Amino acid sequence: ALLLFIVVFILTADYIKNRRLTGFPPGPPALPIVGNIFTLDHKRTHESMTELAGRYGDVYSMRMGQRWVVVLNGFEAVTQALVTQGDSFSDRPSIPLYDDIFHGLGVILSNGHMWKQQRRFALSTLKYFGFGKKSLEPMILEEFTYVAKEISKPFNPHLIVNNTVANIICLLVFGHRFEYGDEQFKKMMKLFEQSIQIQVSVLLYNAFPQLMRCLPGPHQKFKRINEELKDFVRTEVKDHKQKWDPSDLRDFIDYYLNEIQMVTEKSLKSHDDSTFDEECLIMSVLDLFGAGSETTSTTLRWAFLFMVKYPEIQERVQAEIDSVIGQSRPPSVDDRADLPYTDAVIHEIQRMGNIVPLNLPHVTNRDVHLRGYTIPKGVTIIPNLTSVLFDKREWKTPFTFNPGHFLNEEGKFVKPAAFIPFSAGKRLCLGENLARMELFLFFTSFMQHFTFSMPPGVKPVLDYRFGITLSPVHYEICAKPRHE
Ligand code: HEM
Repeated sequence: ALLLFIVVFILTADYIKNRRLTGFPPGPPALPIVGNIFTLDHKRTHESMTELAGRYGDVYSMRMGQRWVVVLNGFEAVTQALVTQGDSFSDRPSIPLYDDIFHGLGVILSNGHMWKQQRRFALSTLKYFGFGKKSLEPMILEEFTYVAKEISKPFNPHLIVNNTVANIICLLVFGHRFEYGDEQFKKMMKLFEQSIQIQVSVLLYNAFPQLMRCLPGPHQKFKRINEELKDFVRTEVKDHKQKWDPSDLRDFIDYYLNEIQMVTEKSLKSHDDSTFDEECLIMSVLDLFGAGSETTSTTLRWAFLFMVKYPEIQERVQAEIDSVIGQSRPPSVDDRADLPYTDAVIHEIQRMGNIVPLNLPHVTNRDVHLRGYTIPKGVTIIPNLTSVLFDKREWKTPFTFNPGHFLNEEGKFVKPAAFIPFSAGKRLCLGENLARMELFLFFTSFMQHFTFSMPPGVKPVLDYRFGITLSPVHYEICAKPRHE
């Protein structure tokens, strides 16, 4: 009888605590305690979430364990929240596993004053090193020459492309690249790979943090991996401190150390509320790697697959590159305006590749009214990018690979407003310009020098692995040099 009483008590308490209040967006019925965790197909969560919008509307709610989540779907709803009402939707929710490891430092996971300062600093430093005096363009082109040498037939582009793109972030933050065979580099790349794989335990940890903190399991490995990554960056920071010269700031870490130094000098005179310190530096560096490596390399891996799936499109891209750039010089970002078809293909790869399918989570920082619903402060928001990049109301043929989405009748490049793979509003990806430069230079260089095809007898398969990023399953590909 006592057991029955406890069960009834828990279920009643759960019902009272978790019922949808009047005005809250509708959604699928939830089970007690676990909520809607089992409503979704976890192998294709982004598609499950998009399908639910067909039943419950563009703004609907679900409960993940004890946490309410509102999913925004379609271009109109997503941009109304992130852009028009951006002030109310720009914070990140607390994610217990990440909070325990990263303590809300850096850019991606921080909020308020810390986020503003760190984001502003990262943006201006990226601008300086990416596009200012120390442009990354020649370094990207040089990196291509290294990767081109690595290609043998047939090959798995996963590791090679990851190394290539990670080296661009290394140049930006550490001021140097690594040889692909370097043991330290290989170790760091393996850690990054592992750090984005463990997803299910993140869900469990976030649903039941107190319990999971004490239990062994993959989440403990996840913590160890990230601590090792921090140590790796810590060693680089130590090295930079020894060689630091304020008259020759070489990279992101040097600039950051300079900021810490200036703040220390200033705060001797006045009490400053600076958030710049070494722990935060380490987190900002990890943010740039975490957000800037996997995303860009995944896009390139989709690019190869789409080119072998649609050889006629590959041929047309190559013909355009041949006529505008030729073979005697490398591409430059200035060529983009003269390569509308190639530009359209890159954009279509990003749209169909759908690299960050559910965006990063946001949270309401006040009670808000959105499209007739009331969403209280503290509700997690998922601005579903899949539903925007495949929105039937915005794209002519949403489920077909069609560069025509980005070309007008005269064949000029046009960018529809619903193209938001980098999200929109205050949290807009801060590496967008760098990513666009890398994608353009790497893609045109590959197309200039190689023709991609599947190994004999193998058909291209566009299967993906769902995670924070949507990446193609590993595949082997052949790259035939176009000019010996
Ligand atoms: C955030 C996409 C490359 C740095 C984001 C977000 C998306 C995104 C969807 C979440 C925005 C939001 O919460 O509303 C992409 C894609 C990329 C890419 C598709 C490549 C194709 C990069 C690169 C860097 C970078 C190269 C830096 C080197 C960041 C950072 C944030 C972010 C730091 C967090 C911004 C904040 O919270 O204020 N990105 N990204 N990303 N991205 Fe990117």
